[in-house]
Amino acid sequence: MISLISVNDIEEGTSRGLEVNNLHLFAVKKDAQVYLYWNRCPHLGTPLEWEEDRFLDPDGALIQCSTHGALFQIENGNCLAGPCKGKSLRAIPFLIDNGMIMLEETALRVPTPL
Ligand code: FES
Repeated sequence: MISLISVNDIEEGTSRGLEVNNLHLFAVKKDAQVYLYWNRCPHLGTPLEWEEDRFLDPDGALIQCSTHGALFQIENGNCLAGPCKGKSLRAIPFLIDNGMIMLEETALRVPTPL
């Protein structure tokens, strides 16, 4: 198991870029729930963030790709609007143990090309 980050190190209503084994992920905390995704837009495969640790739209209501502005639901990664509408961010399975976000190595297998 890989210990990623403490849930307390992600502020409510914010996002956080994470790197593990040279792979880029990001986490969002909303309503005390943590969501974890691959940092890769399903449109062109680019990283999503606007700047370091900024993955959300100005209201903090949706995840927004900085390249062409696609909007994704925080809870399930579904693209609601933009060039990849109907596709989804890839969620990374994890569990929380003693306040730490923990991953299986297999959760980090590089996904097939988009
Ligand atoms: S690369 Fe994300 S919307 Fe185009």
